[in-house]
Order: sequence, then C-alpha cells, then structure tokens
Amino acid sequence: MDKHKLIKKIIEKKIYSRLPLIDVKLAFKKNNNNNYTDEEKVKKTRELLGKIYSAFSGQRLMTRRKLSVEEVLKRHRSTRERLPYYSEIYKRVFNNIHFKSIVDLGAGVNGFTYALMPNGINYIGVEGVGQFVDLTNDYFKEEKIKGKVHHFSLFELDRVKRLVKKQPEPRIALLFKVIDGLEILQRNYSKELINEIISVVSINDKIVVSFATKSFEKRRSFHAQRNWLVNFIKERFMIIDDFELGGERYLVFGKG
Ligand SMILES: C[S@@+](CC[C@H](N)C(=O)[O-])C[C@H]1O[C@@H](n2cnc3c(N)ncnc32)[C@H](O)[C@@H]1O
Repeated sequence: MDKHKLIKKIIEKKIYSRLPLIDVKLAFKKNNNNNYTDEEKVKKTRELLGKIYSAFSGQRLMTRRKLSVEEVLKRHRSTRERLPYYSEIYKRVFNNIHFKSIVDLGAGVNGFTYALMPNGINYIGVEGVGQFVDLTNDYFKEEKIKGKVHHFSLFELDRVKRLVKKQPEPRIALLFKVIDGLEILQRNYSKELINEIISVVSINDKIVVSFATKSFEKRRSFHAQRNWLVNFIKERFMIIDDFELGGERYLVFGKG
C-alpha cells in the first residue's frame, strides 16, 4: 500500500483521528521500514502516537457522563501525578509576578487547573489531541473562563510563535512534560522550539519546562536526567528557579 493510504488507515481508528497530520507523518516516517509489513507499519505508528499523545488517557476522559474537574485531572496521567503539588508548583512558578497571560504548550487537560492559577489570567493552550481541546474549551465556556485551547501541533512553529506573540505581556509559557514526546518524533526539536519562543518573547516573559524524574509506575528514579536539556537552558538563558516536586523537575527561565 502506498504511504498516503497507510497514513489514512492509521487515522481511521477513532482515537487517532484528530491528531495533527504533521505528527502522524513524522511518526509514520519512524516506522516506514522496509522490513515491516504494512500491518506492522500501521500498528507500530499507532503505538508510537499512543505513547506521545496520551491517547489512552484520552479514551478514559471521553465518557458520556459529565466529569467533575477533579475526575478529569485524575484521569489524565500527568495531572493526576501532579495533583497533590499543584498549589506549591504554581506558587513557585508564578512567584507573585503579575503575568497577564499563560501559554500552555502541549496542554493536555491542564486548563482544568485554571482555578489554581493567578486570578483572572488569560489562559491559552496548544494541544494536539482534539478531544482534550474540546473538553477544556467546553469547560471554559461553562465556567466563563478567559481561556481557549487551540488545536494544532507544536511542530507548526510559525503558528506557535504567532500565538505566543499575540498574548498580552508579561507572559509565561509552560512546557510541562512535553519534551520527551517531541524528541521521540524529531531529535533536538525541543531546543529549536525553546529558541524560537525565546526569540519572540520580551525580557519580562518567562518559560517553564518540566520533565519527570521518577517513574510512578515503577516507583523508581530514572537514570536519564536530561542533562542535555538542562545544560542547553543554563548556557543560553537566565535560570530563575530550578526545583523538583512530586517526581517532576521544573526549570523556570527567561531571556536574561
Ligand atoms: C505528557 S502530556 C502532558 C500534558 C500537560 N502539559 C501536563 O503536564 O499536564 C503531553 C501532552 O502534550 C501533547 N503533545 C505532545 N506532542 C504534541 C505536539 N507535537 N503538538 C501538540 N501537542 C502535543 C499530548 O497530546 C499531551 O496532551
């Protein structure tokens, strides 16, 4: 089967149907191996996408019954693991600075923690899973929250930059637990993304990058400390805070 037909087949299955095409193509490229049968290419690409896009959390969030905020946060792995620590994390990250906007890149369902964010802040998210986008936007509408999540890929660099630039200053951009997924699809892309975001923000804006330091399922620390990322940020930008809470490390930095 040709490449286009295989890609069409991959996204035929409902949970993969609303992922950005650019990411599906990148995942397919990784598995377009001549040693694989067409079925294997489809299966392996879906597995890879499932891993990056928390597609299975997505399924657990797609119930007919309306879920409470707490239920939503508990059904997505990243927010569930962070739940006991959110107030402390936000306190440190926002650090009493009067940010006017948050740009949450690879937002997942993090918008559901809006009540814990600084009062009245303008929340903008970017998320590749259409189901998470709708869920959050419906919640924002119902609660009359000043926020919106956009459905596109973080690989669409110009769109990301334009969106960040449009937000009122001072802004804070969050990249919570998204680096690994980006790196799987395109090595070193996260450095490019951070560099490009920094190029459009002002001196008062901040960026927060987080990554897991502990595997909750296996209850042990990872050996990989993402030194390449920490060093890259330390060498180029000004670190404002660097802390670990609940098995996740947070680096807060700015243009310097
Ligand atoms: C591990 S989850 C973290 C979610 C959220 N940032 C949090 O920490 O609660 C990674 C999220 O990034 C999204 N994501 C991964 N790669 C993406 C991409 N290229 N474009 C847009 N969203 C992406 C996934 O769909 C998923 O919701």
